[in-house]
Amino acid sequence: MAVTIGVPKETAEGEHRVALTPEVVKKFVALGAAVQVQSGAGEASHYRDQDFVDAGATLADSSEHIHSTADVVLRVGVPTNMQIEALKPGAVLTGFLQPYSDRARAARLAERGITSFAVELVPRISRAQSMDALSSQAAVAGYQCVLIAASHCPKFFPMLTYAAGTIRPARALVIGAGVAGLQAIATAKRLGAIVEAYDVRPETKEQIESLGAKFVDTGVSAAGTGGYARELTDEEKAQQAVKLGKAVAMADVLITTAAIPGKRAPRIISLDMIEGMKPGAVVVDMACESGGNVDGTIAGQSVTVGNALVIGPANITSRMPVHSSDMYAKNLFNLLSPFVKDGQFVPDWEDEVIAGTALTHAGEVRHAMVKKVLGL
Ligand code: NAI
Repeated sequence: MAVTIGVPKETAEGEHRVALTPEVVKKFVALGAAVQVQSGAGEASHYRDQDFVDAGATLADSSEHIHSTADVVLRVGVPTNMQIEALKPGAVLTGFLQPYSDRARAARLAERGITSFAVELVPRISRAQSMDALSSQAAVAGYQCVLIAASHCPKFFPMLTYAAGTIRPARALVIGAGVAGLQAIATAKRLGAIVEAYDVRPETKEQIESLGAKFVDTGVSAAGTGGYARELTDEEKAQQAVKLGKAVAMADVLITTAAIPGKRAPRIISLDMIEGMKPGAVVVDMACESGGNVDGTIAGQSVTVGNALVIGPANITSRMPVHSSDMYAKNLFNLLSPFVKDGQFVPDWEDEVIAGTALTHAGEVRHAMVKKVLGL
């Protein structure tokens, strides 16, 4: 019997993405897999049931059916406890499983004998770039942050010469120059703003400058392991705040994207800094759902602080679900398809990406960093 891949409709509030698109369904079917898609799963992302059927999928009428019958369940977000209980022992579950956030969930997946792959854990190695859902979704988020900022900014982004004079370009400051931050810088530049950016990893200076933005040098360098940043000491935070305060005060638009894996987002922008911003300033805190880089941000809300509008965009990747789903589905295909052979899914546990992405397998929580963070 061919492996059955199941794609349920996402149920989390504000989630508009779907784990597979018709294009990717077709590719899995070509490998001999049977794909079941819950009717309406693609509705919010503008992929129609008929497009899935034309791609070779069959439709299932309930999420329960998908979770209880599929060999491999592909999701965007975490399943509910009931959905976890419905999975077949030995089933494979893949999605943004928030591996660091819920000890009981990880333990239960292990107890139930589920092989779960948390896409957040895909190793950051060259070979895995095409599988890296954190990166593809971060690119969407960085782009969207700038569009949100531009639509709330009471100024033009570009310089504009018109019959009665010249308008100066807006000034944008981007904090955190990882995948999302670099995309935000590129997008703000394309819209014509003057862009400055800052990150604690020294190698980002060159990346920021290659996009035509100016690097804000605070003198703080905090490269951690695996290409990520480490947490700053209190002295480093104080030094950073002084230098950043000046750049923040000059900005019309501030976009913050800083993160440290497995930890709460670093608090970088204080209330004082926001209160020192210009009238009409717009702040978009992309990290608002993981604790926020900005004092006072509320995920899913816009608040006025001093002269500034501080926006905490929730579910930002769901704002353009056609492409965020498309990118995510291709990431899943690149992650799993090498192990779909003759219609069977047989992961190779010697493979660095498979082994590194597994949250649970064979009754255990496997990932060393997750075990450490969850105290398992
Ligand atoms: P992330 O989402 O974990 O963090 C975003 C950014 O915030 C990072 O650039 C980080 O240095 C910065 N940051 C953390 N604390 C900060 C602070 N206090 N002040 C200012 N900035 C702060 O990072 P992301 O975007 O996931 O990528 C991080 C690294 O992973 C980069 O080196 C990137 O090139 C690498 N990467 C490698 C991939 C691969 O080889 N497959 C794929 C994607 C990223």
